[in-house]
Amino acid sequence: MMQVRPARERDLEALLCLEALCFQDPWTSDGVRAELEQLHCRPLVVERDGVVLGSLLAWLLGGELQINRVAVDPAMQNQGLGGLLVAAALERAQAEGADRAYLEVRADNAQALALYLRHGFGQAGLRKKYYHDDMDAVLMTRSLTIG
Ligand SMILES: CC(C)(COP(=O)(O)OP(=O)(O)OC[C@H]1O[C@@H](n2cnc3c(N)ncnc32)[C@H](O)[C@@H]1OP(=O)(O)O)[C@@H](O)C(=O)NCCC(=O)NCCS
Repeated sequence: MMQVRPARERDLEALLCLEALCFQDPWTSDGVRAELEQLHCRPLVVERDGVVLGSLLAWLLGGELQINRVAVDPAMQNQGLGGLLVAAALERAQAEGADRAYLEVRADNAQALALYLRHGFGQAGLRKKYYHDDMDAVLMTRSLTIG
C-alpha cells in the first residue's frame, strides 16, 4: 500500500539516498538531519510496503509553506508519487492554518514545473541566473485558503 507520512529519524538514510539519486547538489547529512529535528520543518516521505520511494522537504514559517525539495526514486517517477507528496504537504499545511505556499524551481525542470502547475501553483516571478550554473529559478506560489 502506498502511504504518505511525516519523515522520522530512522528515515535519514533513505532521505540521503534520494538526495544523491535525484539532485546534482545533494544536501549534506547534517542538512537533512536538521530537517528531521527543527520545529519549522515538515518533512514527508511516500512509502510502499515500508520502502521509502520519495520525499518532500518543506518549512512552515509565518503561516507560509515553503517547499524546498521533492524527490522521487528515478525508477518510480511519472507514476504520481510526486503528486501525492505535494498534495499531502499542501493539505497538511492548510490544516495547520497556512494560507500560502511557495517554491523555486529550475526553469529547465519540465517535470517539476508540470507537477507544480497541476497542483495549482502559478508563476510569481523569475530569478535570473539563480543557480550555480546560471539557470534561472521560477518562483511559484499558490493560495491555501479555501474559497
Ligand atoms: C520532480 C519529481 C519530484 C516528480 O515526481 P514524479 O513522481 O515523477 O511526479 P508525478 O508522476 O506526480 O508528475 C510528474 C509530471 O511531470 C510530467 N512530465 C514528465 N516528464 C516530463 C517532461 N519531460 N516534460 C514535461 N512534463 C513531464 C508528467 O506527465 C507529470 O505531469 P502530469 O501528471 O500533469 O502528466 C521527480 O521527477 C524528481 O524527483 N525529479 C528530480 C528531483 C527534482 O527535480 N525535484 C524537483 C525540484 S526540487
